[in-house]
Amino acid sequence: MSSTPAGPTPAKGGPIRSICCLGAGYVGGPTMAVIADHCPAIQVTVVDLNEARIAAWNDQDLACLPVYEPGLDAVVGRCRGRNLHFTTAVEAAIASADMVFLSVNTPTKTRGIGAGQASDLRWIEASARQVAACAQGHTIVVEKSTLPVRTAETVKAILTAAQGAGGQKTFSVLSNPEFLAEGTAISDLEKPDRVLIGGEEPEAIDALAAIYGHWVPAERILRTNLWSSELSKLTANAFLAQRISSINAIGALCEATGADVREVAKAIGSDSRIGSKFLSAGPGFGGSCFQKDILNLVYLCGHYGLQEVANYWQQVVELNSWQQHRIANLVVRSLFGTVTGKRLAVLGFAFKGDTNDTRESPAIRICLDLIEEGAHLAIYDPKVASAQITADLGQAEAGQDQGPPQPGQGEGRWQLAPSAREAASGADAVLILTEWREFQQIDWAGLAASMRQPAWLFDGRAIADTAAARAAGLNVWTVGEG
Ligand SMILES: NC(=O)c1ccc[n+]([C@@H]2O[C@H](COP(=O)([O-])OP(=O)(O)OC[C@H]3O[C@@H](n4cnc5c(N)ncnc54)[C@H](O)[C@@H]3O)[C@@H](O)[C@H]2O)c1
Repeated sequence: MSSTPAGPTPAKGGPIRSICCLGAGYVGGPTMAVIADHCPAIQVTVVDLNEARIAAWNDQDLACLPVYEPGLDAVVGRCRGRNLHFTTAVEAAIASADMVFLSVNTPTKTRGIGAGQASDLRWIEASARQVAACAQGHTIVVEKSTLPVRTAETVKAILTAAQGAGGQKTFSVLSNPEFLAEGTAISDLEKPDRVLIGGEEPEAIDALAAIYGHWVPAERILRTNLWSSELSKLTANAFLAQRISSINAIGALCEATGADVREVAKAIGSDSRIGSKFLSAGPGFGGSCFQKDILNLVYLCGHYGLQEVANYWQQVVELNSWQQHRIANLVVRSLFGTVTGKRLAVLGFAFKGDTNDTRESPAIRICLDLIEEGAHLAIYDPKVASAQITADLGQAEAGQDQGPPQPGQGEGRWQLAPSAREAASGADAVLILTEWREFQQIDWAGLAASMRQPAWLFDGRAIADTAAARAAGLNVWTVGEG
C-alpha cells in the first residue's frame, strides 16, 4: 500500500500541495493520474473502500489495472509511487489533503422514493461525512461525481455541521463535473473541450483552475455558479444520448424505406448547425452514465412540476431500449422465426470499443432477449472477462460445448469464445455489437466457411466489410441500411 503525505493542511488560500480523491473508479483513477502527471509538485492520493480495486491499481503489472483505457498504463507507470498513490487508508488521505475530490458512484435508485429514476446519493453523502470527520484546516471539496442539481447544498450542510465554532476546520465546495468519454479518457483529459468549475468562492475556484492551468488553456476553463455546473453535466449527457436515439429512430425509418442512415447522417452532419459527431446509428447507447443521467433529469423535472419536459427526455431512454429489443427481434425473425438451440456468435460485449466497461451495454439486453428465445450464444470480446458477463446476464457460462445444436433442444445459454473465428464456428449468425477495430478486419471468407448455412451477419455497428461478407455467401443486415 502506498503511503500518503503527512501533516496538517494549510490555511485558506494557500497553494494546493496535496489532493485526495474518494473513488478509484473509471473517473477517479484516470482523472487523478493525469493531474499527477501534469502537477509533479502535488501529491495525489486516490482512495477507495474496495480493497481489490486498490490492489489492482497498485499491481506491478500495468496490464492488470482495474480500468482499461488506451494510454492509462503509461501515465500510471510514470507517476505511481512518485506523486500518485492508491490506498484504502481513507482517513489519513483526507486529513492531509488541501483538496478532496468526490468521485464516487451515483447510480439510479432501485428502491424507495424515486426508484428507477433518481440518483442514489448514499455514497456521496457517506463520502461527504467522511470528509467532514477527517479533514483538517481548510479543505476544498470538489464534486467530481455527476450529481442532481442542488446536491452541493447537501454536501455543504454536512460539511458546515462539522466546522465547529473554533474554525479549526473550514470548507469550500466546488462542482467540477467530468466530461471524459470511456475509451478516450486519457486524450479527453489531456485535451478537454472545456473544464467546468462551479462555485461561489473565487479563491477556491482559482485554486482548482490553477491545477488545470498546468495543461489546459485558460479560455477552456469555464466558471459558473454551482447549480449551472451541476445541471450542465446532466444536460450534456441528455443531449448526447438524444442524438443517438434520434439517429437510431431515423435508422429504423431508413431500413423501412430504402434510405441509408450513413448517407443521411453525412448529409445532415455537413450542416454546421448540426455537426457530424455522434451521428452513428447502432444498438443504442450504453455505459454507466447516459441512461442514469437522463432518468435523473426526468426525475428532477417531475420534482419541479415540469411533467412535459420529463416526458420529452424519458422518450430518449424508451427509444434506446426499443432499438435493442428491435435488433434481437429481427435476428429471430431472420433466422426463420426461431433461434432455439441455434449457435449465435456475439462479437463485442463492452458498451463501446476500447473499454472493458459493460455497464448498461446494449449487448446485455440483446443477449438476454436471445437467451430468452433459447439461443446458444458464443460471446467474444477482447477485453471483457467471463465473470463480468456472468454478472451482467445473471447466468453462469454453460459448460464445455455440448456438440452441434439439436432441433428444439434446451434452454438458452452462453459461452465465452477465445476469438471471433471460434465464436462463429458452427454458428448460424454473427452479431457485431461493439465497434472493436479488429471486427473491421475480419476475414469473412474464412469465417463464413466454418458457419452453418444459410448464415447471417447482423452488423449492429455498421463497421464490417459487408461486401466481403456478402461475397462469402452471408446474408447481411446492417443497422440503418434499407
Ligand atoms: N464512467 C464515466 O464515463 C463517467 C464520466 C463522467 C462522470 N462520471 C460520474 O463519475 C462518478 C464516478 O463514476 P465511475 O464510473 O468512476 O464509478 P465507479 O463505480 O467506477 O467508481 C466509484 C468508486 O467509488 C468507490 N467509493 C464509493 N464510496 C466510497 C467512499 N465513501 N470512499 C471511497 N471510495 C468510495 C467505489 O468503491 C468505486 O470503486 C459517477 O457519478 C459517474 O456518474 C462517470
